[in-house]
Amino acid sequence: MVQEEQGFTLWFTGLSGAGKSTLANLVATELRNRGHRVEILDGDEVRTNLSKGLGFSKEDRDTNIRRIGYVCRLLARNGVIAISAAISPYREIRDEVRQMHDRFFEMYVKCSLDELVRRDVKGLYEKALRGEIKNFTGVSDPYEEPVNAELTVHSDRETVEESLALLLSTLEEKGFIPRTSAQKKSAGARG
Ligand code: ADX
Repeated sequence: MVQEEQGFTLWFTGLSGAGKSTLANLVATELRNRGHRVEILDGDEVRTNLSKGLGFSKEDRDTNIRRIGYVCRLLARNGVIAISAAISPYREIRDEVRQMHDRFFEMYVKCSLDELVRRDVKGLYEKALRGEIKNFTGVSDPYEEPVNAELTVHSDRETVEESLALLLSTLEEKGFIPRTSAQKKSAGARG
């Protein structure tokens, strides 16, 4: 049998606007350039397709996350790098999804609320702070930080390029993806 590439799930978590989708898209492009097969399940996109009709109660969020986790698992066990970029605010459900996987990398994109309110790309924080959106994650709904994430990046202190470089090198160090041949050569030259 042809040697199959081992897939895995790259699970982003973090508040709305922290930069999950941006980083997910950047890392996907880089991984594809390196010859990997990659699929992104983006929070907003999933909610218009796979999870259409679900709201933001704990129950609906849990259903959304379980669905994404299930699809990621199917993809990952078929050699794909499955990337999820939903808020996924509850630790227990993230851990449940982790348990379904052989290979799972949790990536926390951390950003202070002050910075998110300052950026407010979608204008949602202003509305949430005025009380116009109920159960808004980080304002009027919980966000449970990961305790065992494979990597945490700080999008309010690092550039996206820095976070991306850190993600790629951590994926390599932990054996999720091979090092590129250029790196192997320079490592060889050093050693
Ligand atoms: S999750 O909690 O189920 O993981 P998901 O990532 O799918 O959330 O959706 C988050 C996106 O929905 C946000 O980026 C934002 O654009 C939008 N949104 C609308 N209402 C809310 C809310 N109450 N809390 C968080 N995000 C919301």
